[in-house]
Amino acid sequence: MTEVLPYDLMENGDGIGLTTLPHSQRISVSENRDLKEKTANSVIPFLKWAGGKRWLVDKHSSLISPDHTRFIEPFLGSGAVFFKLQPESAILCDKNESLIETYDAIKNSWQKVESLLKSHHRKHSKEYYYAVRVKKLKSAESRAAQFIYLNRTCWNGLYRVNLNGQFNVPIGTKTNVVLDTDNFENVAKLLQKCELIPGDFEIALNRATAGDFVFVDPPYTVKHNHNGFVKYNEHIFSWEDQIRLRDAVSAAVARGAKVLVTNAYHDSIREIYDGVGELIELSRSSVIAGKSEARGRYEEMVIKCY
Ligand SMILES: C[S@@+](CC[C@H](N)C(=O)[O-])C[C@H]1O[C@@H](n2cnc3c(N)ncnc32)[C@H](O)[C@@H]1O
Repeated sequence: MTEVLPYDLMENGDGIGLTTLPHSQRISVSENRDLKEKTANSVIPFLKWAGGKRWLVDKHSSLISPDHTRFIEPFLGSGAVFFKLQPESAILCDKNESLIETYDAIKNSWQKVESLLKSHHRKHSKEYYYAVRVKKLKSAESRAAQFIYLNRTCWNGLYRVNLNGQFNVPIGTKTNVVLDTDNFENVAKLLQKCELIPGDFEIALNRATAGDFVFVDPPYTVKHNHNGFVKYNEHIFSWEDQIRLRDAVSAAVARGAKVLVTNAYHDSIREIYDGVGELIELSRSSVIAGKSEARGRYEEMVIKCY
């Protein structure tokens, strides 16, 4: 039987808990205070996110810089490419509604979110983490601060919810809730130029046209007959979704948009994108935590349609 396996969870995949911002670049509140000044005008992803593309931005920036007037990111996550490009105009989309609500709250009320996050920082403990994890909060700002707090202190920055939609990741080892690299004011400024969409990728991708650059970074599902299927989120990105995505990408390219797709280096992906764009394989070091035998170089693929 053919089964669809989330590539992120395959042995040599990204691994749950790939940190968008490597721990080596995370700075404690007490350390390196002068970095605050250096980063005063910079904006970097403020979340850790499985499958985050900091490595692509750092190692292959030429791939993400075609001429464009508007940027579209249908699978936003922590927005590594968005923060690198800092576009003048953008459409940002993700099916994770809590994630998009967090960006929205920063856009509309970053001071409130920051102040609530500082309060979480002061109170953080194991008991506090589990108490916050189950709280149903009323305001968008408090839910945003809760989202960032849990993201920074949970196990490896993983986002996982149970069948009732409740976040259920255990506490991790990180204790810094407020980071010296935080710059919510600049994030908010950048977001003023963006439309944020909580929903399916097609809503954003179907709007792409000439003049747009679309960065497409879906969950890495591949056609696979392995039995290790792991359901790690309420919505699995199915193989049918991968086909639907390929069709939406092809249509956007036909309308004149420039599109860059990332995906697993796998024959099934190669087959469905044959003729859609240039297939380029990329190597990088895997940073999966845990099993040392799973570390090492492995391949990803980008499909460059411009
Ligand atoms: C690989 S991550 C994107 C990582 C991002 N490029 C970064 O740098 O952090 C894939 C994202 O797709 C989102 N997603 C899953 N299914 C989706 C769908 N049908 N439409 C839109 N977003 C979806 C997930 O919530 C997740 O944030």
